[in-house]
Amino acid sequence: MKSDELRQKFLDFFKKRGHSIIPSASLIPENDPTVLFTTAGMHPLVPYLLGENHPEGKRLTNCQKCIRTGDIDDVGDDTHLTFFEMLGNWSLGDYWKEDAIKWSFEFLTKELKISIERLAVSCFAGDADAPKDDESAKIWESLGIKKERIAFLPKEDNWWGPAGKTGPCGPDTEMFYWKLNDKPVPEVFDAKDKNWVEIWNDVFMQYVKDEEGNYNLAKQKNVDTGMGLERLAMVMQKVPTVFKTDLFDPIIKKVLELSGKSCQKGEGCNCSDEVKKSVRIIADHLKAATFLISEGVVTSNLGQGHIVRRLIRRAVRFGKKLEIKNSDWVKEIAEIVVKNYRNVYPELEKNIKFIAEELSKEKEKFEKTLESGLKEFEKLEKVSGKDAFDLYQTYGFPIEITQELAKEKGINVDIDEFGKEMEKHQELSRTASAGMFKGGLADASEQTTKLHTAAHLLLAALRQVL
Ligand code: SER
Repeated sequence: MKSDELRQKFLDFFKKRGHSIIPSASLIPENDPTVLFTTAGMHPLVPYLLGENHPEGKRLTNCQKCIRTGDIDDVGDDTHLTFFEMLGNWSLGDYWKEDAIKWSFEFLTKELKISIERLAVSCFAGDADAPKDDESAKIWESLGIKKERIAFLPKEDNWWGPAGKTGPCGPDTEMFYWKLNDKPVPEVFDAKDKNWVEIWNDVFMQYVKDEEGNYNLAKQKNVDTGMGLERLAMVMQKVPTVFKTDLFDPIIKKVLELSGKSCQKGEGCNCSDEVKKSVRIIADHLKAATFLISEGVVTSNLGQGHIVRRLIRRAVRFGKKLEIKNSDWVKEIAEIVVKNYRNVYPELEKNIKFIAEELSKEKEKFEKTLESGLKEFEKLEKVSGKDAFDLYQTYGFPIEITQELAKEKGINVDIDEFGKEMEKHQELSRTASAGMFKGGLADASEQTTKLHTAAHLLLAALRQVL
């Protein structure tokens, strides 16, 4: 089943059950300064989970664009991604565990016809903050999930949220799929066995975490569910990795074509693991960067812009490893991303020129220094904070790239000293810009200063409106 069809099936299923389909929110959270990106479908809904009325009602569903930077280092295995889409349904103080679990089960086993034999679930084991979730386990049993396929796990595994530092959260119940075809499905569910792939998470948001770290009972009991579209596509398309689903296949093929490699490591393929990892990282990172730039995020040394820079630069480094020669390769990959997603996310096609320009600009900038930076790096036997800072300052190596290079070489980076060097540098540039401002307006009359301030306010307003 194609991903476009999966997306639509999910939304239609919940629409039939009284949910309003809402559009994906931006990748940049509007109301949460504590995190850089939207990491889950519930994230833009926090005010409504806390009790505000949503204009579309108490039952919502959507497919949300998400970015998780915590997983960047895991990209390259079969399931981890930086950008992914999350299918979700929500009850804002409306239905509770019984309906949520029943519908998840029905969607998986009836709508998608996944065999119940291949499914297992986990429930919250209970602790000082909240009781054991026997209620969910009983519902699963009543639907036909055997006791041996139900695991009770602690907070680290079966509790979700808050998305930022504070906010709605609660125990969850997760659904797993046995992915191997050449081994029988084990009778007993072992959550540590990586062949059980987590596909869906139903969170029962009954608590609100406060600044002090306390879990307080929420005014309203909500359901928040999330299912990664890429993992679901992997299951439904019967492929061993998300990179072989139709959400990635055309992008991977393009990277392979550009690098002159003929296949992707998998059944019957003899590419090295290193090639496989490089190809996957390039596809993942440039997809994420393409989506971010389509929302107006441009490269910089701070916040979201730093992440886009880091993603592009890391992709460029792996492109060099694969010896990609074509000078337009970054742009060509972005064009495939746009083509693959343009029907679902029109902002991609609308901004295609801007995306291509931003990507190419950053690639060229980094390429100018990458080779000499690598030569400098090769000379090092250990990386002091000063070395790491020089690589950053002179050659544009984000610290994460230096750390990755060091790991490959089996040497250390003095990260504390690097932090101190950065602070010193920021202190210097702050003083410099304060001086500049003083230089510009030091002799101005009160009137000129006021006009200057007004000009800044006007510019800021224009920037917001336009
Ligand atoms: N917020 C939960 C998650 O991200 C369910 O959507 O897994």
